Amino acid sequence: MKVIDDIAGIRSYVSAIKARGETIGLVPTMGYLHDGHLNLMRMARKLSDHVVISIFVNPTQFGPNEDLDRYPRDFERDMMLASSVGVECIFHPRPEEIYPDGYATYISVEGLSNVLCGVSRPTHFRGVATVVAKLFNIVEPDIAVFGEKDYQQLVIIKRMVDDLNMKVKVVSHPIVREKDGLAMSSRNRYLSAQERKRATVLNRALKRAEQMFRQGERDVYRIKNILTDMIMQEHGCNIDYIEVVDANSLSRLQTIERRAVVALAVKIGKARLIDNIILDPT
Ligand code: PAF
Repeated sequence: MKVIDDIAGIRSYVSAIKARGETIGLVPTMGYLHDGHLNLMRMARKLSDHVVISIFVNPTQFGPNEDLDRYPRDFERDMMLASSVGVECIFHPRPEEIYPDGYATYISVEGLSNVLCGVSRPTHFRGVATVVAKLFNIVEPDIAVFGEKDYQQLVIIKRMVDDLNMKVKVVSHPIVREKDGLAMSSRNRYLSAQERKRATVLNRALKRAEQMFRQGERDVYRIKNILTDMIMQEHGCNIDYIEVVDANSLSRLQTIERRAVVALAVKIGKARLIDNIILDPT
């Protein structure tokens, strides 16, 4: 397994592969890998000849009072896990390599970035779009794999790729969950044992929404009310948002007549957790 920390190095690694006519799958991550990430890597492995992952805790996607400094890191463990699923190369740049002095260019995907998580994290998706565009330019992957837990991120990246005529094919992987239903996330580490138990309410609430939908409920107001009650009853859970939005445009719906996403963000202790479920009436 190769670990490369500079742009010139990863470029020459990639051009050797491309010169042989072989393909590259990229899985961008911020490290502290879990089984959710490993599934993205397995998918990339199936869809391309070589898998490159990036591990970079991207400072531009964190707001001033967010968890950039305490974001969990364990590079040794990440290397072992990545190599166990066939990753051949980790791009692990320092912040100065990605954002050198004088750095001034940002990508903003308008509209899609200021709803849902964008309301309480107004600069987050600008940071995500910027770093992902840079990674695409640096690695030039044929495909890139993202998880559906970060549903809004996925929609924004797909929009950016279309709008900027990027050649990479964006592929998504369904949410990977713990046995008790909690969506896997590096931030689950912030939860105490008690908070960890409480956090299962997120998935229980989403399943309840799905059950209501299957029983014919199409009214967003009624679905949101039930979910809000369920989560508020769980001690220590502070709802950031619960929304039902169009799965492509992310615009709010009143009734579910087309593919929709129930998306939520809830603060539990030091963790802000997100989760979602897709409801498809077709
Ligand atoms: O989903 C993440 O871990 C990050 O937002 C990403 C896509 C690696 C960009 O920093």
